Amino acid sequence: MSSADPTQLKNMKERFLVMYLVVLSVFAAKGTFAFANEPDSAYIFAYATEKNRNHNGLHFVWSLDKKDWHPIGPEHSYVRSDYGRWGSEKRMLSPFLFRSPDGMWHCVWSLNERDGAFAHASSPDLIYWGRQSYPIVMENGNCLSPEISYDAPGGSYSVSWFNDSDGKKQAYSVTTADFKEYDTAVAIPDITVRRETVVISGNQETGTIHKVAWSTVDELIKAQQLSAYKRNLYAETTKSDPGRFASLQPLEAVITADASGSRKTSELLIGIFYEDINYAADGGLYAELVQNRGFEYALSDKEGRDENWNSRKAWSVINVDTFLIDTVLPVHPDNKHYAVLHIDEPGVALVNEGFDGIPVKAGEKYNFSLFARTPESTTGNLIIRLVDKEGNAIGESGTESITSDWVKYEGVLVAGKTVPDARLLVIPQMIGRVDVDMISLFPQNTFKGRRNGLRADLAQTLADMKPRFVRFPGGCVAHGDGLGNMYHWKNTIGPLEARKPQRNLWGYHQSFGLGYFEYFQFCEDIGAEPIPVVAAGVPCQNSAHHGHPIGGQQGGIPMCEMGDYVQDVLDLIEYANGDANSEWGRKRADAGHPEPFNLKYIGVGNEDLITDIFEERFTMIFNAVKEKYPDITVIGTVGPFYEGTDYVEGWKLAHKLQIPMVDEHYYNPPGWYIHNQDFYDKYDRSKSKVYLGEYAAHLPGRANNIETALAEALHLCNVERNGDIVVMTSYAPLLAREGYTQWNPNLIYFNASEVKPTVGYYVQQLFGQNAGDEYIFSDMKLSETQDAVVKRIAKSIVRDSKTGDVMVKLVNLLPVEVRAKIDVSDIGISDGAAVKTILSGTLDDREAKPVTEVIDLSNDCTLPPYSLTVLRYRPV
Ligand code: AHR
Repeated sequence: MSSADPTQLKNMKERFLVMYLVVLSVFAAKGTFAFANEPDSAYIFAYATEKNRNHNGLHFVWSLDKKDWHPIGPEHSYVRSDYGRWGSEKRMLSPFLFRSPDGMWHCVWSLNERDGAFAHASSPDLIYWGRQSYPIVMENGNCLSPEISYDAPGGSYSVSWFNDSDGKKQAYSVTTADFKEYDTAVAIPDITVRRETVVISGNQETGTIHKVAWSTVDELIKAQQLSAYKRNLYAETTKSDPGRFASLQPLEAVITADASGSRKTSELLIGIFYEDINYAADGGLYAELVQNRGFEYALSDKEGRDENWNSRKAWSVINVDTFLIDTVLPVHPDNKHYAVLHIDEPGVALVNEGFDGIPVKAGEKYNFSLFARTPESTTGNLIIRLVDKEGNAIGESGTESITSDWVKYEGVLVAGKTVPDARLLVIPQMIGRVDVDMISLFPQNTFKGRRNGLRADLAQTLADMKPRFVRFPGGCVAHGDGLGNMYHWKNTIGPLEARKPQRNLWGYHQSFGLGYFEYFQFCEDIGAEPIPVVAAGVPCQNSAHHGHPIGGQQGGIPMCEMGDYVQDVLDLIEYANGDANSEWGRKRADAGHPEPFNLKYIGVGNEDLITDIFEERFTMIFNAVKEKYPDITVIGTVGPFYEGTDYVEGWKLAHKLQIPMVDEHYYNPPGWYIHNQDFYDKYDRSKSKVYLGEYAAHLPGRANNIETALAEALHLCNVERNGDIVVMTSYAPLLAREGYTQWNPNLIYFNASEVKPTVGYYVQQLFGQNAGDEYIFSDMKLSETQDAVVKRIAKSIVRDSKTGDVMVKLVNLLPVEVRAKIDVSDIGISDGAAVKTILSGTLDDREAKPVTEVIDLSNDCTLPPYSLTVLRYRPV
């Protein structure tokens, strides 16, 4: 396309128009302003609105006369509240902005109408806001309309607020020198309210007015405009390609490898991030076929929102009205609930429905096990039967005679028929009381035939990606929804009946049948490095209250308990690597693995809010691991986004502590990946390495289609180029059971008997199967130079030093084909054959699969519209 192309011109004009309107709206919002020269100073008004349930954060308007106020981007937020759970919390009420004598801006605000804490954040320029803190100043009370004042002689600040939690309005105040330590709150007669009310766009808003240099207003405007511009840019999708590239003709590309330029690229680049979300563990990768085998489901798993989610979930009875749940003298104190059947007549059965039914295959063997006792000393055995939908027996076995104490009974069933939805019956052959617990049914055909193992088809799909590492067990599951929900690895090892199940923060239950031993075992089975992630002593930054005086992650493990917590982390390393005679190494050996698992990495924290509370706890864990296990690489955390306070503060902490590697997360629209291809090119090579632990391209509607997959492929090309600092990446989330998703998109969907890899999965697989350890620089000459076109073609050439194979990856995110000449002769490959794999599809294609063929090296290679092409050359 020539530079005078009408579509391009139209797009440029549209962009200019948007920018022009944004600028114009600033000046025209309230009357007309036109300055021949800039004013020296102006007033700003800081406020928050009730829109979006107080979630929109701090806004500014400016004025020269305190009468006409000019909004800076409607609802543009300069800082938002990070307190507590998404949805119900993260509100900013009545912010109060204050400038201290040293020029620093401080903002305090109310978190909600209930909690005895206010929020504080500070900023040097009103644009970058630092760490937030939520000091608890009232154990029993709330903090409304907080204000700051400065006591010049004493050099200290006072924060005062109203508490009306007991129906009476009472003013309180605390003093602080640094907004970190606070004296005890004292009741005061009243507060001289310094907030003012102004009318903005017809609405009365309350906030604070400040006189500032004009440059401050100027910077605020620029920050808002840049943010709006970027939002617009990143929102570009292929939907507008027909217009954007209306006259674009097929392109020619010449790609030439340059032997003189190469850099080491990480061998661990493609891995998987496994989290128990979307039923990824129970009902997912964990091959257990019985749902709620331990009768431990609890109302609290779903925070009381489902009255049927209790110990009886997935269970029913035949020929009696009901069965009881008891907790007296359980199999194990950490597994309190069991079922009690009172049988007056033969024919009673306890029935489990599995997860949407129990899939079984004719001729395959299934191991059953259960704990049972007959406390009234009646005798008789149990029949264990599989039935199809119609109630016909399709497999049967039994136990020996049950005794009056808990005993584990085991046996094998052979399925006589293939059905996706069998049920399991436990049929007592006696009259009187029978107690049963931990009723389990496992296919013998698990991945690698492991007992208590993984679903073979799902695990194989993961293995086929050739992941070089597995990060587990989360995600948010690792740090939990509040302190009581943190993932403690010690609860997940040992005999199944002794593991301590708990609520999964994604709104269901974790049996922990799939626990740390099984994770390590899986990593070993697929030749991947294990990367466990432990909480950094703080729970998820989106935590709810759960009885804590204030919600959110602000609590952190009390310092008096941190010593034990740090020891748990050290014990984890001993469990993985310690000698079989060490305390924790012995437990690994007892589980059947005397050899160490050879752990090299440990993640500490998961996209946490970077606060002082976080830093204190992270530092303790980091130093302890560094001291005792200097060879273990600790991976820190830098927040949930590619920018913002947690990212900046997380990276600052990484520099300060010299953390060897940090975990970055971002879920961005495809446009972000297209317009940020140099993201890692700009990183400082001398600082911490990066593990991109969670990322995905998110479209409105959250599809996993050719567009998202190619955006991810494009990003991976750029990451391979930066594989000297970005040493690992993992798409997130990994698994999702159809009908039970809390998050979309995911990499692999499944149901009881099918596995459905997405288009994005094939991108990961192609990069995983075609990884190298040396990045070869190359040049690309394209027949079109328009920025929008050039940005939609990506390339990466890597070589595997072990085999000498050279892999070329080419992404074409355009609606036209690209005829590519690929010249790799400079790196010694000039004739022979290459294996070519193409993943391509039409817009919104969700079914695309890779197609492979062998091509002659001398041929040109055509990159179809919307495609990823991988060429693998083997030197002859
Ligand atoms: O991948 C799903 C979730 O996204 C993870 O649990 C969390 O770390 C992130 O916010």
